[in-house]
Formats: sequence, structure tokens, C-alpha cells
Amino acid sequence: MPRIAFIADIHHGEDVLTKKSSQALQLFAQFAEFVAAEQPDLVIDLGDRIADRSHDTDLMLEHEVAAAFASIRVPIRHLCGNHDRDFLSVAENEAILDQSMGHEVVDLGSWQVLVWRADTRIHRLPEGDTFRLADGDLDWLADHVRQAVKPTLVVSHVPLSGQSQRSNYYFHANYGISIYPELEPIQAALREARMPMICVSGHVHWNSLTIVDAIPHVTLQSLSESWPHPPKAAKAWGLLKLSETIDWTAFGRQRFQFSLNAMSTAERGLAPHPPFGRSEVVDAG
Ligand SMILES: [Fe+2]
Repeated sequence: MPRIAFIADIHHGEDVLTKKSSQALQLFAQFAEFVAAEQPDLVIDLGDRIADRSHDTDLMLEHEVAAAFASIRVPIRHLCGNHDRDFLSVAENEAILDQSMGHEVVDLGSWQVLVWRADTRIHRLPEGDTFRLADGDLDWLADHVRQAVKPTLVVSHVPLSGQSQRSNYYFHANYGISIYPELEPIQAALREARMPMICVSGHVHWNSLTIVDAIPHVTLQSLSESWPHPPKAAKAWGLLKLSETIDWTAFGRQRFQFSLNAMSTAERGLAPHPPFGRSEVVDAG
């Protein structure tokens, strides 16, 4: 049974807004102890390793996070978040982490992982900030979901659910950068899955479960975030166990757990009803 440990939005650096970034490496050391004790098959870093400041500072911060990961003796896959991309290129992140950061399939035996490293740079446009998929990002996801012959975990920095951001400290008033603008084709691609599936992301700094087309979408709270319980950092990390059931536990200040029947995540059910006409209102469920 594959077991995967997750860490999200480490945000190492100087404190910014509600991020206790100056505590990030100290908190990370506790995650490393957790990994040493649990010995999962894989560790996934969902991105946003640093609190960005400038090109040179960010290079130093990323090196310090990479040094912290070096204490972990389990295979690791890193994704870039938007803060890893504000001043740094993918190539610079790859060099620091000594890891290729293109899309990747990791085979864990009974399950596989699609490490969907879609572009996470935020484009600052006159009409507003936005993510934007790079050429090939969507095709890679669609092809690998369609061709999947085993249950599949999809990981990305940006959530793929389109969940409500109501009351979220960062995204209530900034919903547009909680998603890819290509949300509809992304979800159309995920709907094609014929195998059990779960999607896990970071970025939005809270623990959540959103089910779309029967597929569970999980977000993991940031390691160093404090907004739900100021001034204390969340100290969050996650553990996913994949078998006939999908078992998720988020540890830390806001513990969060669920268990789902894996096969149920492949049952699509009926497409949504179109808008009700006046004569149908009485039948609306
Ligand atoms: Fe992010």
C-alpha cells in the first residue's frame, strides 16, 4: 500500500503578512522527524518553498530549503509554486534541487502519481494577475489521465477543483489566482479518468476536501501559515495511504482526516441538469 507524505507552502524567509516564514526551517525539522519515523514511499513538496524577495535572496533561500530536504532519506519530488517562480526560473529551481522539474509519472506499484508540474508563474497583466498554462501542460495531463491503467494520484501546486475561497485570508478577494483560468478543460480532462483518482494541491493555505465529478480534491495547509489561529504557525503536513480506500490525514494545529472508497472516485454519475425552466421549479431537488 503506497504511503506518501506531503508538505506544502514551506515559505522559508522573513515573516510576511500572516506567514511565520522565519520559523519555517525549524518547523520543517519536525516534518523531517515525522518522515524518518513513518518511512513513506515518497515525499512530495507541493511548492512555494520560500517567501520571495529578490533574485539573489531567493537563490539563497531555495538553497537553504534544499539543504533541509537533504536530511530526508526517502525519494522526494518537488513542484514549483508561484513564489518559487517570482524571481527564479524553473532551471534555477532544478539546479538547486538537483531534480528535473518537467511533468513526470512516478510508479508506486498499485497506484501511480502524475506529478503535474504545470506552469506556476503569476502573470501580472494590466487586467489583473493570472496563472496561465504553458504549451503542452494540458495535453500531458489529458493524455496521461486518459491512458491511465492504474489508480492515479494527481499532484499540482495550484488546486484543480475551483473550490469556493469564501473566508480564505488570501483568496476570498483574489479568487482569480486560486485557480488556473483553464479550469474547465482541466476538469474535462480529469473527468475522463476510468480509474480511481485523487488530486492533492497546496497554494491556498488551508486544509480542504472538495469533490468534483466524484474525484476528491485535497488542499494541504501551509507549514508556516498562521491566519486561522494567529499568531501560531499551522505546522501542517499530510500523509496519504492509497489502497482500496483513500485515507488522508493532515497533521498539525488543525488536524483533518477522511477516508473514501477508492472505486467510488471513478463513478461519474449523471451530468448536471440544465437551468430549470419556470414549469420545472416545483420539481427542483
Ligand atoms: Fe502558491
